[in-house]
Amino acid sequence: MKKIGVLTSGGDSPGMNAAFRAIVRTAHGLDIDVLAIRHGYKGLINDDISKVTSNDVSNIIQRGGTVLKSARCDEFREPEGRAEAAKVLEKHGIEALVTIGGDGTFQGAALLAKEHDINVIGVPATIDNDLVGSDETIGYDTALNTAMEAIDKIRDTADAHDRLFLVEVMGRDAGFIALETGIAGGAELILLPESLTDIDEVKSSLNKVLSEQRRSSLVVIAEGDETGGAMKISEALKPDFSKYEMRVCILGHVQRGGNPTARDRVLASRLGSAAVTVLKEGHSQVMVGVVNNKIKLTPLKMTFGKKKDINFDLVELAKMLR
Ligand code: F6P
Repeated sequence: MKKIGVLTSGGDSPGMNAAFRAIVRTAHGLDIDVLAIRHGYKGLINDDISKVTSNDVSNIIQRGGTVLKSARCDEFREPEGRAEAAKVLEKHGIEALVTIGGDGTFQGAALLAKEHDINVIGVPATIDNDLVGSDETIGYDTALNTAMEAIDKIRDTADAHDRLFLVEVMGRDAGFIALETGIAGGAELILLPESLTDIDEVKSSLNKVLSEQRRSSLVVIAEGDETGGAMKISEALKPDFSKYEMRVCILGHVQRGGNPTARDRVLASRLGSAAVTVLKEGHSQVMVGVVNNKIKLTPLKMTFGKKKDINFDLVELAKMLR
């Protein structure tokens, strides 16, 4: 193996830069050239590619976002787009592609590999933590801490006014961020896509909490919750809870930014480096993950599509501490 390409794709996550750095430095240690593909699959199709040196990745381990830039690319969803991408890879003599991203990124990579016999390795990076094959994904820990800090701040103002706050967090169809930030932020109620949300149950749980005269109450809601998110729940609660001052806060993209935590930097460094070493060993069409603190390979096509289990012990804990 003499030359590999690297790209970041889909929603960025803190730690993508640390993974890119680890890939470049490990590859150079093994005498492998690295070509940086900018703007994800869109940049691959448009030939937005250049060689990187070890110096080029200095001073990026601490930075959020992705210096490689990212994009969501409709063209790559089509066979014609992937055929174009395969031609560009061939033109540059790229023998393997390392894709850093989430489920959409890996779906695209798996199709590219199947249709054009290209070696691909996935490095899991998404704040949603929804990929099977790694206990945590790069960026999840940072997003948790960002959301928790925001919730702490909301609690201050909620408490000052004795208000009821509905806080919506990201996670797409998964409730990992909601569950753990809800526990860490001492939420009175946590609504997750993984457990059915019955609005009458929400009302009776809230009534219980509010009748116990708590000074403030905070509900953390996963954006993928089946009720349709914080705004919809607020509409549903309004008629019965009009005597309480209710406010909605949707944390949104603030959860995707910021300097990665130490845990995310270490995870990204391990996974980025492992991506290159396993390629060198001859593996392909796999995602590198960390399970029980050990590097684990999972076939790329097994990492998405199937729902990753949340920890129901934590769901019970949250109820107990309500
Ligand atoms: O997958 C990461 C994520 O931030 C999700 O949590 C969220 O639903 C989505 O991306 C938002 O996507 P976009 O930035 O394209 O609006």
